[in-house]
Amino acid sequence: MVMPNQPVSRNGFWRVLDERLGLSGLAYPVPAYSNTLPYVLGGITLFGFIILVVTGILLAQFYHPHPADAHESVIYIIAEAPLGDFIRSIHFWAAKLVVITALLHLIRVFASGSFKRPREVNWLVGVTLLALTLGFVFTGTVLKWDQEGVEALGHNREIGELLGSIGTWFTGEFTRSVPLLTRLYLGHVSLMPVLLVLLVIVHLYLVKQLGISPRATANATSGPPTKEQGVSRFNVHLKRLTGYGLLLLALVGTLALLLPAPLGQAGVPGVEVTKPPWMFLPFYPFEDWSGINGLLISGGVLFLLLTLVPFVDRSPWLSPRKRRWIILVATVLLVVLIVLGMSAWLSTPEVEHLLESAS
Ligand code: HEM
Repeated sequence: MVMPNQPVSRNGFWRVLDERLGLSGLAYPVPAYSNTLPYVLGGITLFGFIILVVTGILLAQFYHPHPADAHESVIYIIAEAPLGDFIRSIHFWAAKLVVITALLHLIRVFASGSFKRPREVNWLVGVTLLALTLGFVFTGTVLKWDQEGVEALGHNREIGELLGSIGTWFTGEFTRSVPLLTRLYLGHVSLMPVLLVLLVIVHLYLVKQLGISPRATANATSGPPTKEQGVSRFNVHLKRLTGYGLLLLALVGTLALLLPAPLGQAGVPGVEVTKPPWMFLPFYPFEDWSGINGLLISGGVLFLLLTLVPFVDRSPWLSPRKRRWIILVATVLLVVLIVLGMSAWLSTPEVEHLLESAS
């Protein structure tokens, strides 16, 4: 207890805070391996989202979400807003790295069988978080309102129309009083962040309740972590995570300085000349083969397969050596996606003329 008027040393200051905030409760035991890089990838992704929220709030002070002004306002951010180009570039690079860390996190969780009983629900929450992350990248691409953005909005509208009544929100038909661009902006800055926060809370709650899964050693089975794998404390984990998070910030800052975020010419509706951002490239050939149907179906099939993982791989074994079939299928699928993405990246886009107008 700290007495009133007692001089407060650094330790005393910690005690004052702890008494009021219960911070020492964070020093609960966690396995030592949870501090290794493969097991902090989810936390690094979360840190990346914090960078995105902070820079996003700054960008929103200068961005104008109306088709007539959007592109000009991005030029204003780059050329005139205080540190605008740098902040926009941090947002741009953080978005790219967050997709990479989320995918690596998914691969770690998959390879170590961490989605198995009792963690199946958390896998499904994770799949939804991945879809949401891609949704952020997609809507963010539209907001630039350059050629890439206008084309992305065209795809958005086409997919909405293909989905019929359940896709109406994604088309201009939903309301004539607010342009589709403005509504996607609302999704990007309000609806989706709220959903993200709620899902992250559920995701972390489940990690806390169920404990980090055991290491995928030769005979390990799913369940709570075992004591032999070493005991650390969550506050130590948080310190380690903050270190990795600051490294991510340094990397993003360096990339932002060296390679500022690009912006294309103001978009021309009705033509298709650009390629999508890299994370959507594996689906691009399907669009070439069978139009927007191919895009929707290939993306849907991939997410369906991800959803099925905990229902298909139900053995209690965690080690990849005892799960050879599913590991083989997943590896083949990953290689196919990489090859499709690379071939799309190397291809020259054909100029397509579409019957549409931007709104
Ligand atoms: C995109 C945003 C995501 C964030 C911010 C996030 C965050 C986290 C964090 C902080 C953990 C604690 C352990 C760790 O860092 O590895 C975790 C665990 C977990 N995540 Fe995620 N995650 C995300 C996406 C995903 C995805 C895409 C999946 C899989 C489809 C997934 C499935 C899981 C599962 C099953 C666990 C428990 C793992 C275990 O007990 O070892 N998460 N996540």
